[in-house]
Formats: sequence, C-alpha cells, structure tokens
Amino acid sequence: MLCRVGQIRRCAASLNQTINQVAASRQKHTLPDLTYDYGALEPHINAEIMQLHHSKHHATYVNNLNVTEEKYQEALAKGDVTTQVALQPALKFNGGGHINHTIFWTSLSPNGGGEPQGELMEAIKRDFGSFQKMKEKMSAATVAVQGSGWGWLGYEKESGRLRIAACANQDPLQGTTGLIPLLGIDVWEHAYYLQYKNVRPDYVKAIWNVINWENESERLQTAKK
Ligand SMILES: [Fe+2]
Repeated sequence: MLCRVGQIRRCAASLNQTINQVAASRQKHTLPDLTYDYGALEPHINAEIMQLHHSKHHATYVNNLNVTEEKYQEALAKGDVTTQVALQPALKFNGGGHINHTIFWTSLSPNGGGEPQGELMEAIKRDFGSFQKMKEKMSAATVAVQGSGWGWLGYEKESGRLRIAACANQDPLQGTTGLIPLLGIDVWEHAYYLQYKNVRPDYVKAIWNVINWENESERLQTAKK
C-alpha cells in the first residue's frame, strides 16, 4: 500500500513538472526561420548582414523578451507593481524588436521588387497620388530617422487610409501609433552598415528591389478585417 502511495506521489510530481514545463515552453518566444537563404537578397542586402541581423540581433531580442516576460510574470504573481513598471521599457524594446523583425523578414523576398498589385496599389494611388510618390515619401521619412529606428507604411483603421510613419528605436508601430504595419524598413546601422557604411540613403534605395509586395497585400487584407 505504502509502495502504491509513493508511486502516486511520484506520478503526481512528475505530472506537475510536465505541466510546468509545457506552460513555460508555451510562453517562450522563438526566432522565426527565414523562408530564403541569407545570401538570397544579394546584391541588395549581403549575406553577412542578413546572417548577423537574423541569427544574432533578432535572436537577442527574442532571448531578452523571454527573460523580461519571466521577470514580469514573477512580479505579477507577487503583486509587485514597482517591478512591473520598471520592466516596461525592456518589454517595449525587446517586444518591439521581436515584432518588428518578424514583420521585416516576411516583407523581403529574393523575388521581390517591382510594384504591388490590386487593392494595395489602388490604396497607394488614392492616398499618395502614385506608387512613385509613396516610395519617395516613405524613403524620405525613413532616411530622416534620427539615430536608430524604422520607417513604416501602415494602415489607419479609423479612416481606412494608408499612412507613412517613423518610429524611434524598436518602438512597435501599432503599439505606439495605432497604425497597423504593412511594410517596415529597419534603419538601425546593424541593418546596412557592413555593406553601405554611413550611406543610409543608398540602402533605403536598394531595399525597394527586394520588397515582397504579396506579403504587404496580405497584411492589408488582414488589417481591413
Ligand atoms: Fe534590425
């Protein structure tokens, strides 16, 4: 009998451990795989930049987001509001970094470039006059980001219109402006310096050659629902 009680306890402990492991693993964010090789966007973005950007920089945001969320959950469980507040900047920075880069990789494609089709193109023409004018406006806003940040084409749900915006650091577009992101251009130096040095305008000019307009069109469809 004692033997059976011991077995049940061990079984229960093992089950609890498994549940905790599953719960912990479900909360963890992971680095998304790219659907193309690191060298696939050459000559516009070289393989060394892509490899470091994805496997080092984005991976660091993911790791730090997981660490921050763990600390936040501990603070939440303890009712420790001071620590919850103190963790907000790290949550914004690393959470934004993960969100932004996850969008960025899918916004690029070795088969990209050219112009969007269908509803997205119609919306661009309606809100900016032409595709060329949108490109010029977004390029200017992106190049003008002071220090590190992102240029964005976003969808404003209230008006149903497209907007250009710039965000500092890793501020996520929707979380800080309400605009739903369609296309983001990363202008942190880690995104271009190894190839373009300090000439950010050349990098912004080149990136249009690898924009995955199909992905941006899908984002617009999802945003409108
Ligand atoms: Fe980046």
